[in-house]
Amino acid sequence: MKKFTTIYDIENIPEIIQEAIALKTDPFQYETIGKHKTLVMLFFNASLRTRLSTEKAAKNLGMEVMILDINSTWNIEFKDGTIMNLHSAEHIKEAAQVISQYADMIAVRAFPSLKNKAEDESEYIMNSFMKYATVPIINMESATAHPLQALTDAITISELTDKKKPKVVLSWAPHPKALPHAVANSFIKMMQSIEVDFSIVHPKGYALNPEVTKDIPISHHQVEALKNADVVYVKNWSSYNQYGQVLHEDSNWMITKEKTGNASCMHCLPVRRNVVIEDAVLDSKNSVVIQQANNRTYAAQIVLKKLLENQ
Ligand code: CP
Repeated sequence: MKKFTTIYDIENIPEIIQEAIALKTDPFQYETIGKHKTLVMLFFNASLRTRLSTEKAAKNLGMEVMILDINSTWNIEFKDGTIMNLHSAEHIKEAAQVISQYADMIAVRAFPSLKNKAEDESEYIMNSFMKYATVPIINMESATAHPLQALTDAITISELTDKKKPKVVLSWAPHPKALPHAVANSFIKMMQSIEVDFSIVHPKGYALNPEVTKDIPISHHQVEALKNADVVYVKNWSSYNQYGQVLHEDSNWMITKEKTGNASCMHCLPVRRNVVIEDAVLDSKNSVVIQQANNRTYAAQIVLKKLLENQ
């Protein structure tokens, strides 16, 4: 693996899932592979799980980790040819090359603005780092993708059931704030890449990018769609067509025990209790959100290991 910015950077998904699960039996079995190698993690946005699990994963492999909250340093300019006489003090051309001298890999988290679809879809932050950095880039959630989360989710589903083709439903749920499409996009791509009976349910107006959903069955009837599901994956996203807007906060779409029944309930976290998912689900044995968050470490660790093996 030369970089990890999309799930399509994974050569063999079933194989990497098993390799990640094998790491869990002894997380320190490759504790010297990253000796004298440094991971620099750059955060344009907040994080709890991604930050801690990726740092833990790197340390399990013997790597050094340096973390920079980009908002506490110089404003970076991404456009070419700008006269930099306003708010940006440093250009990505210098920044990416300088950071590359301190790093063997650079991991970047950069959310979308949700205001300008074309700009968000250009993935200018992630792509600028890929263009100007001289070391591999890892996506820790970008404008349109969260591949580390998607790999985690595939690992978790594989642990949950022995069924050859489990029924997995991605359900939209309400949220008061406009949220990105990245988690849903990468989850959908991952479900298209593994053996599952997959469908999506969301209210009208919340259709995702058709280039991502392709021919996946989509319904607008949540109760019906969730029947007999083995796994319900819960996520809010803002409207894609009315880009970045919260069209309504229909509380009827909150995930309840009645709707999920015996299905395992997944969510990438953080989750707003009793808005997105009710307590009765999150506090039940059917909730696997903690197991899922634990798997973030092993998803990151197997990706870092594969990048290290290529250096
Ligand atoms: N799921 C996830 O990416 O969590 P954080 O935003 O806390 O990193």
